[in-house]
Amino acid sequence: MEYKTLNNGVQIPKLGFGVWQLFDQNDCQKAVEEAIETGYRLIDTAALYQNEEAVGRAIKSSGLNREDVFVTSKAWISQLGYEATRKAFEDSLQKLGTDYLDLYLIHQPFGDLYGAWRAMEELYKEGRVRAIGVSNFSTGRLADFALQQEIIPAINQIELHPYKQHPLIQAANDLFGTATQAWIPFNQGKDDIFKDAALNSIAEKHDKTVAQVILRWQVQNDILTIPKSVHKERMQENSDIFNFQLDQKDLDQIKSLDRFPDNYGPNEDPQRIKHLLDYKI
Ligand SMILES: NC(=O)c1ccc[n+]([C@@H]2O[C@H](COP(=O)([O-])OP(=O)(O)OC[C@H]3O[C@@H](n4cnc5c(N)ncnc54)[C@H](OP(=O)(O)O)[C@@H]3O)[C@@H](O)[C@H]2O)c1
Repeated sequence: MEYKTLNNGVQIPKLGFGVWQLFDQNDCQKAVEEAIETGYRLIDTAALYQNEEAVGRAIKSSGLNREDVFVTSKAWISQLGYEATRKAFEDSLQKLGTDYLDLYLIHQPFGDLYGAWRAMEELYKEGRVRAIGVSNFSTGRLADFALQQEIIPAINQIELHPYKQHPLIQAANDLFGTATQAWIPFNQGKDDIFKDAALNSIAEKHDKTVAQVILRWQVQNDILTIPKSVHKERMQENSDIFNFQLDQKDLDQIKSLDRFPDNYGPNEDPQRIKHLLDYKI
């Protein structure tokens, strides 16, 4: 596994394992156990995913020391605010069966973000969480935090795949030393991404799969990534990306697949914001 150093010196695996939509506790525990067996050392969960207990059980049953697995969780919108976020953090720790988190994120940029960040800064200073960050922050939201809060987010976790590359958010993240972490690196298989002609020709050239090309492209661009699969052979495939190199022509070709290059960030659509605010946990 390769690691990146975050803006506070903490080492984070470049490749992690995501558990969104693994709502069945047994399925989730099995998937995380297999991911750890395969070599993944970062598990990305959230209060919203309702599977923190299963993730905690899988880490325990792996036999690894707690410090060998990087654990991320996130506070949902209804858990934002000074008191609410302190409580949400304790709830996540209890469910995960651990006494600290490696990374705690604000999941969506709505609600009492500033109260939540105060709580997270405190938790960080108390040594309860090794790094704090945000998710789904547009360029402006990130700048507001980076320029006005005491601690600059270590990570901004955003949707990022060949069809939505968010160069403007990446540039904003870089400006503030905030690492970019990609959610849905495979676009959840939508828009027939695995059948994309350009990605297939690059994959053939390197004797790799489209999934491996996408993840390699992210890693080479200094983007952290957290694919999900319930199939052990795909977990293996998705982790076998540190032994080849995309060339400049490949990188340029993938860059040209971006369908929204001028996008300053997600969540500016009022209907989408209403949908997210209606999502109760
Ligand atoms: N911060 C946020 O707001 C946010 C939002 C969404 C997601 N996330 C995080 O990002 C993680 C990844 O996103 P995601 O799980 O939604 O989508 P994803 O990783 O882009 O795609 C997962 C889908 O791709 C399939 N797949 C995986 N590897 C494959 C391979 N090698 N070949 C073909 N198909 C493959 C999986 O099927 P099988 O499982 O059947 O193999 C699954 O259907 C989540 O689990 C979550 O931790 C964060």
